[in-house]
Amino acid sequence: MGGDDHPRSAFGAPPRGGDAGGPAEPDPRRLLGKTEAVLRVDGLNQYYGGSHILRNLGFEARLGEVTVVLGRNGVGKTTLLKSLMGVVPVKTGSVVFDGGDITKATSYDRVRRGIGYVPQGREIFGRLTVEENLRMGLASKPGGTPIPTELFELFPVLRQMINRRGGDLSGGQQQQLAIARALAAGPKLLMLDEPTEGIQPSIIKDIGRVIRMLADRGTMAIVLVEQYYDFAAELADQYLVMERGEIIQRGLGADMEADGVRKKMSI
Ligand SMILES: Nc1ncnc2c1ncn2[C@@H]1O[C@H](COP(=O)(O)OP(=O)(O)OP(=O)(O)O)[C@@H](O)[C@H]1O
Ligand SMILES: [Mg+2]
Repeated sequence: MGGDDHPRSAFGAPPRGGDAGGPAEPDPRRLLGKTEAVLRVDGLNQYYGGSHILRNLGFEARLGEVTVVLGRNGVGKTTLLKSLMGVVPVKTGSVVFDGGDITKATSYDRVRRGIGYVPQGREIFGRLTVEENLRMGLASKPGGTPIPTELFELFPVLRQMINRRGGDLSGGQQQQLAIARALAAGPKLLMLDEPTEGIQPSIIKDIGRVIRMLADRGTMAIVLVEQYYDFAAELADQYLVMERGEIIQRGLGADMEADGVRKKMSI
């Protein structure tokens, strides 16, 4: 991760589908050919005991793009990310990452290959300091690998709080720490599970800006699980809507409003 010139984030602009009523503009980034699928999921099924939780899921996540996964409580979003992370073993289907089949790989191996994961509820280590938490994100790297200074440019508050215990941070600061920890090893795929849950608006904005900037570099794919529609719509390059373990709708982020996704998310 270098500190060279990256395109400025467009975060803060109105969502690309807009709600002005007119037809959505095609996303110009779609025309640039940034379409390398770094993650390919095919025919994924998952069960907890006798309950069929994920049903035949298939999608791709591409470098330079934010793939948003939307769905109400209990539809299987976290189970999907846990399956992709190897936290729960995949029953049937395949997961290909960066050209290799990782369907049966251990979580550790997935991290080593370049998948970063920000779990729902953050799961930072409350008794460890911010610095120690960040070092946990380097566990897959050779000993002595320094914490990339860029993490402190993305989240300046972490530098100020470097010796503070994780458990003493605010919820928003903990979320930033969890994202920084996932970024420490320089992943090619970053998966975030509801990063806005219980977070104050100003920090949600900061997190959105970072997600957009990371995607815009074109060297990382981002899978963002969300229930906060406006946040999701602002960031989505492509979207998937889940219901009862299935993907029931998908499309371009720019079309979310026109496709009526907002309605699917409310009540
Ligand atoms: N360890 C488990 N054992 C049995 N059932 C589980 C387990 N974890 C989740 N479930 C069930 O699987 C379904 C999907 O849960 P999951 O946590 O993946 O949903 P979600 O979309 O992430 O929900 P939320 O938006 O509330 O986080 C739910 O019905 C849930 O009750
Ligand atoms: Mg969940």
